[in-house]
Amino acid sequence: MLRLPFRIRAKSGVPWLAGRQRWWFVGRWLSSESSFVQEREEQKTKEEWKGAGRETLTTEETRKYRVETGEFKIAVVNSPTNLLKPRYARVNTLKMDVESALLEFKKQYDEVCQDAMVPDLLIFPPRTDLHDHPLVKSGSVFLQGKASCMVAVALGPKPRWEVIDACAAPGNKTVHLAALMKGNGKIIACELNKERVKRLKDTVKLAGATNVKVKHEDFLNMSPEDPVYSKVQAILLDPSCSGSGTAIDRLDHLLPSFTADSDVNRLEKLAAFQRKALEHALSFPAVERIVYSTCSINQVENEDVIKSVLPLASSYGFELTTIFPQWPRRGHPIFDGSQHVLRTDLIEDKEGFFIALFVRKGVRPPAKHTRDVGNTLRALQRRKKRKINSFFLIRTMGLFLKS
Ligand SMILES: C[S@@+](CC[C@H](N)C(=O)[O-])C[C@H]1O[C@@H](n2cnc3c(N)ncnc32)[C@H](O)[C@@H]1O
Repeated sequence: MLRLPFRIRAKSGVPWLAGRQRWWFVGRWLSSESSFVQEREEQKTKEEWKGAGRETLTTEETRKYRVETGEFKIAVVNSPTNLLKPRYARVNTLKMDVESALLEFKKQYDEVCQDAMVPDLLIFPPRTDLHDHPLVKSGSVFLQGKASCMVAVALGPKPRWEVIDACAAPGNKTVHLAALMKGNGKIIACELNKERVKRLKDTVKLAGATNVKVKHEDFLNMSPEDPVYSKVQAILLDPSCSGSGTAIDRLDHLLPSFTADSDVNRLEKLAAFQRKALEHALSFPAVERIVYSTCSINQVENEDVIKSVLPLASSYGFELTTIFPQWPRRGHPIFDGSQHVLRTDLIEDKEGFFIALFVRKGVRPPAKHTRDVGNTLRALQRRKKRKINSFFLIRTMGLFLKS
């Protein structure tokens, strides 16, 4: 039995889900395992895993154990740790260039610097409060975390493309896409919730993103066969999720409504929607790139969703593609290709995100008119075959009657 320094307890003090699926606090101890690192053989049987004492497991072994036993499926964040987060601010290059923003901020914040992976992102020391800064108020700079910014960069839209942001509000990633596309091309930003549509419109206006068309609609009702979407080349899908990767920030664990059981039901529903939305995105005929992201640390909303759509994705010619190869934290190894997807860690990176990118490399599925032509040809061939068959039947009958 593994001994954990942070045992998850419900308000009653009873360990959560004892006897059912074990839920583990994904915590500091996981990343501080390096002192246990020893040379050990990679492959173990499940029994060996179970027999191994916690003190003898390396970080990687602990991870493998948890993947094998399904303990990563749902992770629970219990206690707020002392997460001293650097502050991030993305320069809205539709309004200002990065160098000018850096110069402006340097006047007040000596330590500000540019992020190495996301070039339009600036890093400030923890606790820097930029909410009232004039550049933020004018929409020249957006307060947006690093992982959130990595999503649009991973999609990599080109300026003339048509792109769908499937679940768009409040619109941080939408306007980041607009900036990456230099205000050209077209972004269809879809949002189901009426109130959030307002927020989305405000964000778009503040950013000066004139190439964004906001749609108050259910993404699942947007037909891939509608000619309006026939030229869409990329889809950003950031569906509703549990938010467990940012739960510490939001102090969700302190809410009276935050219970294990309601969480399990909610997670099942969320995962079902996430999968449906991803399958829907895969069916758009001209789409070449789809990025899927969540701010959740649960395997059920991340790797499980990706794994479940892999056969469909491959039938459409899509493959998972490596994003940010220099980033060390990859997906849980529950399917071949999990190293292509990326995770950010709640403790190491101060927020837990998941990002996966599909790129269409193979054959496209037949477009509707091609399918129709195919069906007609097949029908003609069947008719011809029937005619030939009846000809031979009549001749055979004739010969038989003659004899
Ligand atoms: C995680 S948030 C998106 C955050 C956004 N990408 C950003 O970076 O600002 C998910 C959004 O999807 C919306 N949503 C949920 N189901 C949807 C659906 N079926 N169609 C369109 N939007 C949906 C939710 O209302 C919510 O605003």
